[in-house]
Amino acid sequence: MSHLLPTYANFPLTATRGEGARLWDSEGKCYLDFCAGIATCSIGHCHPALTKAISDQAATLIHCSNLYQIPQQKELARTLVDDFVQTPGKIFFGNSGAEANDGMIKTARRFGHARPDKSGDARYEVITFNQSFHGRTLGSMAATAQTKIHQGFDPLLPGFRYVPFNDIEALQSAINPTTAGIMLEPIQGEGGVNEATPDFLHKVASLCKEHDLLLMLDEIQCGLGRTGTLMGWHAICPELKPDTISWAKGLGGGFPIGAFYVSNRAINQEGTELSALMDAGSHGSTYGGNPLACRAALAVLNEIQSSQLTANAARQEQRIRTAVESWNHPAVTAIRGKGLLLGFALNPDNFNVPAETPASIHLCKALMDAGLLTVPAGPGTLRWLPPLNVTDSEVDEALKILKNTLDSLS
Ligand SMILES: Cc1ncc(COP(=O)(O)O)c(C=O)c1O
Repeated sequence: MSHLLPTYANFPLTATRGEGARLWDSEGKCYLDFCAGIATCSIGHCHPALTKAISDQAATLIHCSNLYQIPQQKELARTLVDDFVQTPGKIFFGNSGAEANDGMIKTARRFGHARPDKSGDARYEVITFNQSFHGRTLGSMAATAQTKIHQGFDPLLPGFRYVPFNDIEALQSAINPTTAGIMLEPIQGEGGVNEATPDFLHKVASLCKEHDLLLMLDEIQCGLGRTGTLMGWHAICPELKPDTISWAKGLGGGFPIGAFYVSNRAINQEGTELSALMDAGSHGSTYGGNPLACRAALAVLNEIQSSQLTANAARQEQRIRTAVESWNHPAVTAIRGKGLLLGFALNPDNFNVPAETPASIHLCKALMDAGLLTVPAGPGTLRWLPPLNVTDSEVDEALKILKNTLDSLS
């Protein structure tokens, strides 16, 4: 009998060892890992630079309270702002994606107090989008516009309004005097690998300007090189200047860390910076930004930059698209996503399975049997999220397994 809460409907695979894009289970079977911790192991399993950074730091200082100065935290914040976002701002470190999003939502509330509506009441509402996924805390769950995630947890945290993704008219009519921000994933990961269109992102930014709203990007799955660009939105609408950005997953390469960025832009005529609203005592986390997590993340970001992994992600996307499109396979109706956040839209009629079994899970299981780990993104999409340093031969091997499996299931 298990003593674990049964919150995960997981597969009967026990991972015991990893190296690069390979994972071994307790039976000794080797898999090609195109799940990579669901976009977390961004530089592959047990990358020597990451392993060394963690073990060196663990032997020196694991934890230090935020009561004191933490140089690794300052260096990581500088790297994220100067090298990745490239627009002045400040960073807060936490431990997960949901927590990072909660911090962004708190920033929107602070902004709504600093910039109230015409009658002087604080604004508080954040608009999010159908099929989004922002996490499982009370705040990030309420931000997530999927009823299956909310089931049995009401009353939800108030202050969210949901609209269809890529629907600018619906967004426009949802904006009201209480609105403080618009929050979105430039590419929705869990919701099915759905890309925001360039036009939509562009118009969202214009609406934010017009109505004095925060533009809040959740880059937890799509950020930090995954889309073949440094930032996820760069792959769609590079001129965007978000007010807040959240990260987790790939940031630590498997070591738990989350973060959010707040821009330094002036929010009033006195020149108050947005980032100044999150002042001393407004937010905190005991573990957030500890030396060990920050040192791990610095090793990951350094590897992404020095080995030009964004370029590899962009190149592998083209190789994958070219190969899969050339098959013209009746089981795959479209390829969505950017870089190495790719979703294969599946034709359910092509899979000989009972109607209640989602095609994505059926295919995922068959691929696992064949030695390739992947992730469903909703019932009709199979997701690939390999490490950003996946090689040509690993991609070729995965393509071969996918093709053979699709043929055998059709
Ligand atoms: C876009 C996005 N936001 C937030 C989260 C939540 O992150 P975490 O599981 O680290 O809390 C996820 C996790 O899948 C995600 O994909």
